[in-house]
Amino acid sequence: MNRSVRLCSFGLLLAALAVPALAQNPGEQVYRMKCAMCHGADGLATTPVAKMMSVPSFRSPVVMKMTEAEMIAITNNGKGKMPAFKGKLTDAQVEQVVAYIRKLQR
Ligand code: HEC
Repeated sequence: MNRSVRLCSFGLLLAALAVPALAQNPGEQVYRMKCAMCHGADGLATTPVAKMMSVPSFRSPVVMKMTEAEMIAITNNGKGKMPAFKGKLTDAQVEQVVAYIRKLQR
Protein backbone atom coordinates (compact mmCIF):
# COMPACT_ATOMS: atom_id res chain seq x y z
CA MET A 1 0.00 0.00 0.00
CA ASN A 2 1.53 3.34 -0.91
CA ARG A 3 1.47 6.38 1.31
CA SER A 4 -1.37 8.29 -0.35
CA VAL A 5 -3.69 5.27 -0.29
CA ARG A 6 -2.97 4.82 3.40
CA LEU A 7 -3.64 8.51 4.11
CA CYS A 8 -6.85 8.32 2.14
CA SER A 9 -8.21 5.32 4.04
CA PHE A 10 -7.30 7.02 7.31
CA GLY A 11 -9.40 10.00 6.18
CA LEU A 12 -12.32 7.71 5.41
CA LEU A 13 -12.03 6.11 8.83
CA LEU A 14 -12.09 9.53 10.51
CA ALA A 15 -15.17 10.51 8.49
CA ALA A 16 -16.93 7.27 9.48
CA LEU A 17 -16.22 7.97 13.15
CA ALA A 18 -17.29 11.61 12.97
CA VAL A 19 -20.70 11.05 11.34
CA PRO A 20 -22.47 9.27 14.24
CA ALA A 21 -21.05 11.83 16.71
CA LEU A 22 -22.51 14.69 14.68
CA ALA A 23 -25.82 12.89 14.20
CA GLN A 24 -26.44 12.99 17.96
CA ASN A 25 -26.29 16.76 18.06
CA PRO A 26 -29.24 18.06 16.02
CA GLY A 27 -31.81 17.07 18.66
CA GLU A 28 -29.83 18.88 21.33
CA GLN A 29 -29.52 21.98 19.15
CA VAL A 30 -33.25 22.08 18.46
CA TYR A 31 -33.92 21.55 22.16
CA ARG A 32 -31.67 24.45 23.22
CA MET A 33 -33.15 26.80 20.64
CA LYS A 34 -36.85 25.93 20.85
CA CYS A 35 -37.62 24.08 24.06
CA ALA A 36 -35.11 25.01 26.80
CA MET A 37 -36.65 28.45 27.47
CA CYS A 38 -39.75 26.75 28.86
CA HIS A 39 -38.56 23.28 29.87
CA GLY A 40 -35.14 24.34 31.22
CA ALA A 41 -31.77 23.30 29.77
CA ASP A 42 -31.90 20.09 31.85
CA GLY A 43 -35.60 19.43 31.13
CA LEU A 44 -36.46 19.58 34.83
CA ALA A 45 -38.55 22.75 34.45
CA THR A 46 -36.99 24.61 37.38
CA THR A 47 -36.72 28.00 35.60
CA PRO A 48 -39.02 30.92 36.50
CA VAL A 49 -40.74 30.66 33.09
CA ALA A 50 -41.36 26.95 33.65
CA LYS A 51 -42.83 27.60 37.10
CA MET A 52 -45.02 30.41 35.79
CA MET A 53 -46.39 28.17 33.01
CA SER A 54 -46.47 25.10 35.27
CA VAL A 55 -44.36 23.07 32.86
CA PRO A 56 -43.92 19.55 34.24
CA SER A 57 -40.42 18.09 34.66
CA PHE A 58 -39.52 15.51 32.01
CA ARG A 59 -38.50 13.30 34.96
CA SER A 60 -41.95 13.43 36.56
CA PRO A 61 -43.63 9.99 36.72
CA VAL A 62 -46.34 10.96 34.20
CA VAL A 63 -43.81 12.04 31.58
CA MET A 64 -41.50 9.10 32.29
CA LYS A 65 -44.40 6.80 31.33
CA MET A 66 -45.11 8.59 28.04
CA THR A 67 -44.17 6.77 24.84
CA GLU A 68 -42.05 8.50 22.22
CA ALA A 69 -45.08 8.54 19.92
CA GLU A 70 -47.04 10.49 22.55
CA MET A 71 -44.20 12.98 22.97
CA ILE A 72 -43.93 13.42 19.22
CA ALA A 73 -47.70 14.05 19.03
CA ILE A 74 -47.54 16.66 21.84
CA THR A 75 -44.58 18.39 20.18
CA ASN A 76 -46.39 18.51 16.83
CA ASN A 77 -49.84 19.47 18.09
CA GLY A 78 -49.12 21.30 21.34
CA LYS A 79 -50.93 20.77 24.64
CA GLY A 80 -52.32 23.39 27.00
CA LYS A 81 -49.79 26.24 27.03
CA MET A 82 -47.27 24.20 25.07
CA PRO A 83 -47.08 25.60 21.51
CA ALA A 84 -47.50 23.31 18.47
CA PHE A 85 -44.33 22.83 16.43
CA LYS A 86 -45.89 21.23 13.36
CA GLY A 87 -44.60 23.15 10.33
CA LYS A 88 -41.89 24.84 12.43
CA LEU A 89 -39.83 21.67 12.81
CA THR A 90 -39.49 18.81 10.32
CA ASP A 91 -40.65 15.31 11.31
CA ALA A 92 -36.98 14.33 11.59
CA GLN A 93 -36.24 17.25 13.93
CA VAL A 94 -39.20 16.35 16.15
CA GLU A 95 -37.96 12.75 16.38
CA GLN A 96 -34.43 13.95 17.18
CA VAL A 97 -35.57 16.37 19.86
CA VAL A 98 -37.77 13.70 21.50
CA ALA A 99 -34.79 11.31 21.45
CA TYR A 100 -32.79 14.04 23.20
CA ILE A 101 -35.54 14.45 25.84
CA ARG A 102 -35.28 10.68 26.45
CA LYS A 103 -31.59 11.23 27.24
CA LEU A 104 -32.43 14.01 29.69
CA GLN A 105 -34.72 11.56 31.52
CA ARG A 106 -31.88 9.17 32.36
C1 HEC B 1 -43.78 28.35 25.56
C2 HEC B 1 -43.26 27.34 26.46
C3 HEC B 1 -42.92 25.97 25.87
C4 HEC B 1 -42.05 25.69 24.85
C5 HEC B 1 -41.25 26.68 23.99
C6 HEC B 1 -42.01 24.25 24.73
N1 HEC B 1 -42.85 23.66 25.65
FE1 HEC B 1 -43.20 21.68 25.87
N2 HEC B 1 -44.59 22.07 27.31
C7 HEC B 1 -44.92 23.33 27.78
C8 HEC B 1 -45.99 23.21 28.76
C9 HEC B 1 -46.65 24.37 29.51
C10 HEC B 1 -46.28 21.83 28.86
C11 HEC B 1 -47.35 21.14 29.72
C12 HEC B 1 -48.61 21.03 28.91
C13 HEC B 1 -49.77 20.47 29.70
O1 HEC B 1 -49.61 19.38 30.25
O2 HEC B 1 -50.80 21.14 29.74
C14 HEC B 1 -45.38 21.14 27.94
C15 HEC B 1 -45.36 19.76 27.75
C16 HEC B 1 -44.51 19.10 26.90
C17 HEC B 1 -44.46 17.67 26.71
C18 HEC B 1 -45.35 16.65 27.39
C19 HEC B 1 -44.66 16.13 28.60
C20 HEC B 1 -44.83 17.07 29.70
O3 HEC B 1 -43.79 17.58 30.20
O4 HEC B 1 -45.99 17.31 30.10
C21 HEC B 1 -43.49 17.40 25.80
C22 HEC B 1 -43.03 16.04 25.28
C23 HEC B 1 -42.93 18.66 25.41
N3 HEC B 1 -43.57 19.68 26.08
C24 HEC B 1 -41.93 18.80 24.48
C25 HEC B 1 -41.45 20.03 24.03
C26 HEC B 1 -40.49 20.15 22.97
C27 HEC B 1 -39.83 18.99 22.24
C28 HEC B 1 -40.29 21.49 22.78
C29 HEC B 1 -39.38 22.17 21.76
C30 HEC B 1 -39.50 21.75 20.38
C31 HEC B 1 -41.14 22.20 23.72
N4 HEC B 1 -41.83 21.28 24.46
C32 HEC B 1 -41.22 23.57 23.81
C33 HEC B 1 -44.34 24.53 27.40
C34 HEC B 1 -43.42 24.68 26.36
